[in-house]
Amino acid sequence: NSDGGDDLRMKYRYLDLRRPPLQRNMILRHRMAQEIRRFLDSEGFLEIETPYLVGSTPEGARDFIVPSRMNPNQFYALPQSPQTLKQLLMVAGYDRYFQIVRCFRDEDLRADRQPEFTQIDCEMAFVEQEDVIAVFERWAKHMFRHVMGIELDEPLRRMPWIEAMEKYGSDKPDLRFGMEFADLTDLAHGHGFPVFDDAEYVTGFAATGCAVYTRKQIDALTEFVKRPQVGAKGLVWIRVEEGGVKSSVDKFYTPDQVRALAERCGAKAGDMVFILCGKKFRALAQLCALRLEVAQQLGLRDPKKFAPLWVVDFPMFEWDDETQRFYAMHHPFTSPKPEDVQYLESDPGRVRANAYDFVCNGTEIGGGSIRIHDAKLQATIFKCLGFTPEKAQEQFGFLMNAFKFGAPPHGGLAFGFDRLCSLFGGTESIRDYIAFPKNNAGRDVMLDAPGYVDPAQLDELCLALTTPEQK
Ligand code: AMO
Repeated sequence: NSDGGDDLRMKYRYLDLRRPPLQRNMILRHRMAQEIRRFLDSEGFLEIETPYLVGSTPEGARDFIVPSRMNPNQFYALPQSPQTLKQLLMVAGYDRYFQIVRCFRDEDLRADRQPEFTQIDCEMAFVEQEDVIAVFERWAKHMFRHVMGIELDEPLRRMPWIEAMEKYGSDKPDLRFGMEFADLTDLAHGHGFPVFDDAEYVTGFAATGCAVYTRKQIDALTEFVKRPQVGAKGLVWIRVEEGGVKSSVDKFYTPDQVRALAERCGAKAGDMVFILCGKKFRALAQLCALRLEVAQQLGLRDPKKFAPLWVVDFPMFEWDDETQRFYAMHHPFTSPKPEDVQYLESDPGRVRANAYDFVCNGTEIGGGSIRIHDAKLQATIFKCLGFTPEKAQEQFGFLMNAFKFGAPPHGGLAFGFDRLCSLFGGTESIRDYIAFPKNNAGRDVMLDAPGYVDPAQLDELCLALTTPEQK
């Protein structure tokens, strides 16, 4: 084992890679890649490569761009995913495509995010959501069986997005343990406790066996939820014991009212109820962070246990307060549920998408959707997303034009290969499954990249640097 620290390990990655744990990770990744190909080949999928030097492919991150010497002032973008290209392959009649492919996204990095990462990217023609889910449920079963020796219960659990949000505060719920949330708003309002009275939403859960937590432990959890990353203002607790209930809000609620709150959360003697409030989805997200923290402390996030599920019925759009506009929750090519199309113009927030995520142990392993295959509907969606017809034509004209030549109904999904490796391997960071990863600043410490380039190279590309330091 190494205590060299991340940067030192990455600088001498070729030495780090000699260590048995990393060798095991590389072997695991290789075996998984073989199993993926074996399964998809047996199901009639064709492996087709797509280019890396392309135009913008919107997946919600910034593009990495590459200047073109032969086309002065113009840039390629590296693909955030092969999304539009695989759709064009469907138009071209290759009705089952897959690729184990590198994707590039300039976004803030974390343990489960790298600026270049690998997707198992798939697309199928003449399918509906059920067909895609059926094939990839078989695939997941195949992978668990042949790589992990684990038989998965079939069919996998499915959970509508709104249920995942309300019960677990996340669209990627960790179902290895319970501790579901309850909506306490009606019980909490109207008893003179101003914090709850002023809150849009009040929600809580019963932390199993935590009634024994000391004042100090509760204070530590209160500090946890107040950290800027979580952002709650405070934490209300109810200790549930055989003899009765005790809470931090006993001043405002009678014992019966406190008991009602605890019961709504399903608390039993020996549990501790934790309650947060605020704007609905903010309070839910904060409580999710607390649920995971408590589960961590209780040792419930066991990496040898797997709780996979499909999250379905995502909203089409997500409203952004800052820019005052809707964004596609998945991507702009996702089709709305037919019964919700009527609300596209009048109430876009209400429209649900034909989109689905494969989630396991609190991580989004994969996601996909049934696509729009009709140029008119695609134009309406672009309009909802604030594209002018000219801008939509400029950016995605190639796709809408292609649809005019006859596009089959199609849909697919992509799995994060690095995340799947770390799920199977049982460690947090996807870096451990990438031979030459980047650090959190997006640097390759071993190659010392990115780096400055020769002024002559810049001249050739018609580029000039503007910040003094770089000059
Ligand atoms: P999405 O953006 O959800 O969908 O990506 C699919 C899966 O890729 C993984 N992933 C990442 N892994 C490591 N580092 C990253 N920066 C990163 N970003 C994403 C996740 C995620 O579930 N074109 C669509 C798929 C489709 O609709 O078919 C897409 O890219 O595990």
